[in-house]
Amino acid sequence: MPKTNKNQISLWEIDESPLKFIDLFCGIGGFRIGLQNQGCQCVFSSDIDINVQKTYKENFYEKPFGDIKKIDVKDIPDHDILCAGFPCQSFSIAGKRLGFEDTRGTMFFEIARIVKEKKPLALFLENVKGLTNHDKGKTLQTILNILNELGYDYTYKVLNAKDFNIPQNRERWYCVCFRKDLKINIEDFKFPEKKELKIKLKDIISKNTQNDYKITEKCEKNILKFAKIKNIDIKEDTLAYEVRASRCQFKTDGIAPCLAAKMGTGGNNVPVIVSQRRKLTEKECLKLMGFPENFKIKHGSQSYKQIGNSVCIPIVNEIAKEIVKLLKTSI
Ligand SMILES: C[S@@+](CC[C@H](N)C(=O)[O-])C[C@H]1O[C@@H](n2cnc3c(N)ncnc32)[C@H](O)[C@@H]1O
Repeated sequence: MPKTNKNQISLWEIDESPLKFIDLFCGIGGFRIGLQNQGCQCVFSSDIDINVQKTYKENFYEKPFGDIKKIDVKDIPDHDILCAGFPCQSFSIAGKRLGFEDTRGTMFFEIARIVKEKKPLALFLENVKGLTNHDKGKTLQTILNILNELGYDYTYKVLNAKDFNIPQNRERWYCVCFRKDLKINIEDFKFPEKKELKIKLKDIISKNTQNDYKITEKCEKNILKFAKIKNIDIKEDTLAYEVRASRCQFKTDGIAPCLAAKMGTGGNNVPVIVSQRRKLTEKECLKLMGFPENFKIKHGSQSYKQIGNSVCIPIVNEIAKEIVKLLKTSI
């Protein structure tokens, strides 16, 4: 098992029996931050991507295990909460009976396989909003049927980062499940209430002058061409995104567009601060996901991809708090 860094456990030591969680498809550890903030202890993490593993190790002092498909459930420690922001692979269930075996080959199957054996008290899942209407809702229904078959009550909601004091338009599906025998009334679980957006994009944008982030002349020309066509009044926080020769989008409302993993594919997929003729930095992107100031990330396309794949920390914090509250009153 990975060694745990002493600095990371100071919070748990206050609580003599911290709730234990596993961090599946852990990415750069967004769930881990949220759960640790509630005093929970991470006992296992896994992600297949070696660059992700490096960033995770830099921050949490342990290297996640790799491909979950190759991990025997017996090697996963017992835990109370299973966290997973699983990859949004679509799976076709046409003509199938919508059961556990029908999801074989998908990452949700891997989650179900672990849940079946380990029976954690609670599950905390996250995915893109598109999961809710994929294949006319059948994909989600399959997932929910399986959670029910596995013995869990569930509740889910699509929440947007901009409603939680993070200036990013990022809608994600959040799902919380409790093992039925705990007799937690699922209606007692309350998703967090919307909050006023006090942090503005302006507060996040720094005066970065590093050449690494400067856009090319061609990119600048395209942005200015479309700004003129669309009559955009360029302010200090105006962002341009999806910059192509044939099109360009702008955000002028002080809220960033959704930061997606494709930011890591190069080209012009990182939003541009038009007034500064440069891309958002990795640090700014981390702030737009609510990561703590001291989170460490390298400069480069892999980091943009990792951030685009991550979760919005304030939302995860609040959901984790509610899960822990309900678990602590039921066990
Ligand atoms: C949507 S991201 C989740 C990010 C994470 N929730 C966070 O806060 O950063 C999905 C992650 O699943 C990982 N992944 C994909 N296939 C995997 C597999 N077979 N085993 C383990 N991890 C896998 C990807 O590398 C990616 O980091």
